[in-house]
Amino acid sequence: MLELKNISYEIDKHPIIRDLSMTVQKGEAIAVTGPSGSGKSTLLRLIADLISPTKGALYFDRQPYDVYTPEELRTRVSYLSQSIALFGETIADNLSFPSTVRKDHFDKQRAQELLEAVGLGHYQLSDHVQRMSGGEKQRVTIARQLMYQPDVLLLDEATSALDHQNSMRVEQLIFDFVAKGTTVLWITHDDEQSHRHFDRQVVIKDGILHKEVALT
Ligand SMILES: Nc1ncnc2c1ncn2[C@@H]1O[C@H](COP(=O)(O)OP(=O)(O)OP(=O)(O)O)[C@@H](O)[C@H]1O
Ligand SMILES: [Mg+2]
Repeated sequence: MLELKNISYEIDKHPIIRDLSMTVQKGEAIAVTGPSGSGKSTLLRLIADLISPTKGALYFDRQPYDVYTPEELRTRVSYLSQSIALFGETIADNLSFPSTVRKDHFDKQRAQELLEAVGLGHYQLSDHVQRMSGGEKQRVTIARQLMYQPDVLLLDEATSALDHQNSMRVEQLIFDFVAKGTTVLWITHDDEQSHRHFDRQVVIKDGILHKEVALT
């Protein structure tokens, strides 16, 4: 499904990711861990095609990334960033964004179901996002990212601003996707979480793949 072959990423000759190779199978759930500043977000941004490696290559479905259009990769490989980025004014503006990109109709029922599932069932799609709390905004971005089932879902500490109950709800939604074949790479600092459902844990340290641990 995904293959990283000897990828390096440098900024101003400063190496951030160093000669990293990794193969990920379809439907696999991987916990990405490691110290702050070790290169975890950079690794996910490389896989999301938001940045390109300075050396090495990435493969999706056995084809190098550059045979795909950026739009094609963007819809198949979905990245949920560490920072909260909301668009427009209302919840609907955000949840309809993935369908707009795909030139598809906006499935309001799915949007309502997802709002419910992330614990925002008391909100209307027409409600404004500016007035929501940090954790609520984060849940809007999560719902937005889950409107369509991606082949690969990349999560950068997606539940960091959520309380326990809502984290569990979001985790459930994400692992429902895994059960249906989505591949997940999830950056987490939560050791309990990383052992609960994941197939494998990878530890990134100083930009290298320091250790891999098979779980379950
Ligand atoms: N655009 C950039 N310009 C300069 N340095 C960068 C840039 N992006 C990342 N870095 C540096 O690369 C290193 C790895 O950053 P990265 O965000 O990947 O770490 P991380 O493992 O996700 O950390 P955290 O757990 O704190 O989120 C850091 O030293 C960071 O300062
Ligand atoms: Mg990070």
